[in-house]
Amino acid sequence: MGAADAIREDRLWQRHADMAKLGGTPKGGVNRQALSAEDAASRNLLGSWARARGFAVSTDAIGNLFVRREGTDPKALPVMSGSHMDSQPTGGRFDGMYGVLAAFEALEALEDAGVTTRRPVVAVAWTNEEGSRFQPGAMGSAVFAGHNDLDEMLQVKDWKGIVLKDALAETLKAAPAPMLDGRPGFPLDGYVEAHIEQGPRLENENKTIGVVTAIQGSRRYIVTTHGEEAHAGTTPRAARKDAFAAALRMAQAMYEATTDDDDTLRFTIGRVEVAPGSPNTVPGQTVFTIDMRHPDDAVLEAHEKKLKEIVAAKAAPCSAGIERVTVVPPTNFDPMVVDLVRAKTNELQLSHMDMPSGAGHDAMHIAHLCPAGMIFVPCERGISHNEIENATPQDLAAGARVLVEVLVDLANR
Ligand code: GLV
Ligand code: MN
Ligand code: MN
Repeated sequence: MGAADAIREDRLWQRHADMAKLGGTPKGGVNRQALSAEDAASRNLLGSWARARGFAVSTDAIGNLFVRREGTDPKALPVMSGSHMDSQPTGGRFDGMYGVLAAFEALEALEDAGVTTRRPVVAVAWTNEEGSRFQPGAMGSAVFAGHNDLDEMLQVKDWKGIVLKDALAETLKAAPAPMLDGRPGFPLDGYVEAHIEQGPRLENENKTIGVVTAIQGSRRYIVTTHGEEAHAGTTPRAARKDAFAAALRMAQAMYEATTDDDDTLRFTIGRVEVAPGSPNTVPGQTVFTIDMRHPDDAVLEAHEKKLKEIVAAKAAPCSAGIERVTVVPPTNFDPMVVDLVRAKTNELQLSHMDMPSGAGHDAMHIAHLCPAGMIFVPCERGISHNEIENATPQDLAAGARVLVEVLVDLANR
């Protein structure tokens, strides 16, 4: 039996159902934010499945979780596959989790089919990909790749003021795993990440596999406006320094400045915090987030300049500042891996199309360490970052079949 034949659709689907109970929401999604009790529970569950199969489980100083199946050559660098187990606050059951479970299913299939590989194959669950609780996102893979500094990341606070270092310590206490020595990061020979598409193209074109060629660049910002708290009933308009009104003027101008003719630029204000948050006090401070993405870094650069100009122009009579918290340049995947994914998809007689990724993924960091690529499968109506996110057991299994075949080739390179 070949490795692809040993992929078990029922097992892979059941594992998604088991994981979906951890942080499960009434609408059928999950709220399993990074380094929460629910995140710890998912680590423990994956760890228990891994240990039951005799795979080695370990973690590193930023909490990335590794499940390793040894190869025959003790000196050969590993190949890796995985994604993330943290979710958006109103997240779905498949974003990230599919990539982790597909990688784990690949390890199990290799084991079941008795396939040996020269290189070790490692399944990984990266810490804090979503970046909804702690910013920046894709943190675990960025630290692993040396793109973000470990000590700096450990000091990051969530919106409640909880320091990441403390949340990580709690998580690792609740979900213990042997700690790898030293700073995060070890040499890799290849990386492939499976993920739901999170957009509608595969479904619209009736294709099963997306051969991912690239990931668009993304930048995140925090804008803060400072006004003056005042009585809502007595303060005349001319005397007001309304921090929310200033934020609103900026937001309006920003939406206009980021509306491009070909609908390629992505601009989102996803979080607004108005302080002190009282109905009858004029807001003294407003903080909002910006997430902006485009395949061309020069376009992002030009629009960043516009955002800064808008903040400066629209603040008065308040004061305001814009801070860039993340910049991830566009990623082009290694043609060797992209071609291999396409070739294996063809061999398995699955319909497919080449496509760039609109969403960010951990692969964008790991692509700087070794040849890397991604495999997409469809999700219902392209809906993601939503509790109703859905995918079919057949498509998930098809992606895992492609994945295991790609991994076998990479691991015997
Ligand atoms: C990841 O979830 C992203 O925001 O692209
Ligand atoms: Mn994801
Ligand atoms: Mn996501």
